[in-house]
This record gives sequence, C-alpha cells and structure tokens, in this order.
Amino acid sequence: MTKPVWPDDFDLKDVPDIEGRVTTFITMQMAVLKTFDKKRQEWVKDNLPPFYRMTYFFHDHAYRVAEDIRKTALHMGLSSLAAENLYRAMLPHDIGKSLLPLHIWDTIEKPENAIKMLRRSHTELGVGIIAEVLGNISHPFIDLMADIMMNHHEQMDGNGFLHKKGADISAPARLACIVESFDGYSISRHHFGDRDISVEGVLKRMREEKGAAIYDMDLFEAFADMKISEYKENRKEERGTIKMQAFKKLIAIAAPLPMANIDTDMIIPKQFLRSIKRTGFGINLFNDMRYDGQGEENPDFVLNKKPYRAAEILIAGDNFGCGSSREHAPWALLDFGIRCILATSYADIFYNNCFKNGILPVQLLQEEIDILMDRAQQFPSEPLCIDLEKQEVTAGNNIFAFEIEPFRKQCLLEGLDDIGLTLAKEKMIAAYEEKNRRNKSWLWS
Ligand SMILES: [Fe+2]
Ligand SMILES: [Fe+2]
Repeated sequence: MTKPVWPDDFDLKDVPDIEGRVTTFITMQMAVLKTFDKKRQEWVKDNLPPFYRMTYFFHDHAYRVAEDIRKTALHMGLSSLAAENLYRAMLPHDIGKSLLPLHIWDTIEKPENAIKMLRRSHTELGVGIIAEVLGNISHPFIDLMADIMMNHHEQMDGNGFLHKKGADISAPARLACIVESFDGYSISRHHFGDRDISVEGVLKRMREEKGAAIYDMDLFEAFADMKISEYKENRKEERGTIKMQAFKKLIAIAAPLPMANIDTDMIIPKQFLRSIKRTGFGINLFNDMRYDGQGEENPDFVLNKKPYRAAEILIAGDNFGCGSSREHAPWALLDFGIRCILATSYADIFYNNCFKNGILPVQLLQEEIDILMDRAQQFPSEPLCIDLEKQEVTAGNNIFAFEIEPFRKQCLLEGLDDIGLTLAKEKMIAAYEEKNRRNKSWLWS
C-alpha cells in the first residue's frame, strides 16, 4: 500500500480570493442541503406514519462526520492544518443528495437495490456541482474536496459504487469512508430493529460485519481509539457536571396511576436504554402505555391527559420500581418532570436511585394512598403539597406525615448526590489538611 498522503502542504488562507470562493461555496451548499432536509421532513410527515418519521438530517450528519474526521486526524498526530483541511473538505461531501428525489431517502422497509444505487449516485452528482461552480479554479483543496465527495463510499475490497480498490482510494477518502460508515451505523431506524448503537456497539459491529473488506484497518483503529477516548471523556464530564436539584417543598399536580408492581421496564422499556446521559428519556417514560403501536399518544393514559401532563408527582400502588435495577428509570421520571412519588412500598434499588437523582419517594399507608388517589382523580387541578422539611403531604384538609432517614433527607434538601457528597467531603478534607499544614508544618515540608 502506498504511504498515505495528507493535506497539510497547502493553506487556503494563503490565497484569499480562492479561500473566499471556497468558503462561499461550502456555506451556500450547506444551506441548500438544510433546505432539502426541511423538504424531506415535510415529505415524511405527509407520506409516512408517525413511527417512521425521519430523524436523520443530512446537514447535521455532515457536521458530525466532518468533526469526526478532524478529531481523528489530530488523534493520529497530523498537523492542525491537515485536520482543518479535512474538516472543510468533508463538510459538503453529501451535497449531491439535494439533486435526487425526495422520496428515495426515507423508506419504511429496507430500500431495494435500484434505490440504493440511485442514492449512491449522490457522490458523482456532488462532484458535478463542484465542477460547475468551482471548475475554473485549480487548487489542491478543490481536488481534496472532490476526492472525498466522489470516494467516501468506496470499499477496500473493490465492492463499492465505483469499484475502486485498496491503494486506488486515497487516505483522506479511506478515512472519510470510516467516519461516514460510523455515522450510518449509529442511526436508529425502524427496519434496523433493536440494534446496539452505543459507541462500543457500533465499533464492534463495524469490525465484525465489514472490517478489512471495507475499511483501512490502521485508520479504522485510529478512529476507534479516538471515539472511545472521546466517549470516556464525555462520560466523565457528564457524570461530573450534572447538578442534582435540591428538594425542599413541592406544590404540584399529582397524576394517579392506580397500579401495583410498576416495574422499571414499564417505566422505561429496555430498547430506549441507549444512552448513559441522564437526559432525554422523558419522551419514552411509560412508553408502552403512553403510545400505541404507531407511536401516537394513547389518549386514555393518565400522563397524556390535561392537567396531568404537567404532573410532577405520581401516585402509585405497591412495590413501585421493581424489576431490573436500571438507573434509567429515575432518569426518565425526572426528565419527564416527576420530582416525587407517593406509594405504599418501593423496590430497594429503585428507592436508592431516586435519592441519587433528586426524586423524593414517599412511603404512605394504603388508606392514605387511597385518599390521595381519589382526590387526584376527582380534583385533577388541585395541587398537592409535599413538604420535605416538615415530612408532610398535604391534600386539601388531609395532612399525612411520612418517615425518611435523616441522612437521605439532608442530602435531598441540599441537593447532594454521590458526586456532590464526595465533593463536599473533599472540601472537608482540604480544610483539614490546610489546618494540619499550619499546625504541623514539619509534616508537610
Ligand atoms: Fe455522508
Ligand atoms: Fe454520502
């Protein structure tokens, strides 16, 4: 294989008039792609059932893959100039799509081969746009952009659209193929079934299903390494920076859900557990009860009715939160807006997870729950008051006291989750060390 050639020997900034034209070209073409996405969205709304509605915008995809190629280049130790050139050249790689018909992109079933080939022709069409608009300029950047555009779907074994093979595909195009493919593997589409779209899952599938037949494996490993370290970094940040909300007194609408044994799979079905972010799960809270098979809201479900849609309190039966121990269950409740649950009993792990996320699970007696359930049904707009400080639930003239461990109560009142607790401890340790340092300076010299 020939040595990869990377675009770090030219700087567009050296030729301002060409840079100006290139920048204008990319900006305009990206705007065209965005408009095309909007038209697709309209088309999908008019032609496909809600469950199949498109979430995959080409415009957003372009920014994601351009960013991926930039980061991989830097991760591999290429110059920042090469990384920037690759980023810019990757951005417009799919603009040819806007010249193809609207209806070929979003299909309910897997597309047939003829449609697939038509879709693939966006590579040549895009290069045609470049030729038309920038054809009279000669600059290595234009060649790079056209190369990535033309070849980002080629495969190392020659089974791609143009049947180019191995070293016939340039290093930038081989890397473009990898970032392109990763993004495609990460989409959730109905006809793809319940596939694993976590970073690790996608990389594993790319390696096992296609591997060296499609990808330059050296570049693939460099990309995979970048993605995994990025993922770990995000996870650290994600976990470190989310601030738990304190819980003191809540006056809010309560939704009655008179069922026992509501398990974590009912709260958030397993097919939605794809993220380790705490946010974004609210839309799928109680998914199977809340939506019908077409993805439309079930009008009979309590959280789809006014005023319960705005509920921040949930009243339920025995053994709430049983089943598998996923922390996604409190995340989904919280993301929907539920801050407090009233039930006669809870599953242990769920109960603990609630406190970690700033949700107050209140345990009441059956007759108390019965009264509250009744009131919430008869007077839907009457808010309940949950006073953690006083440990009381008030509904009209009824006041019910509840028990809570003092330590958990304190954590909720102060908004301290595990991370917050560690940080608070760290402050104490630092203060102690500081004092120690002053008193016993010989220990620290
Ligand atoms: Fe693409
Ligand atoms: Fe493409």
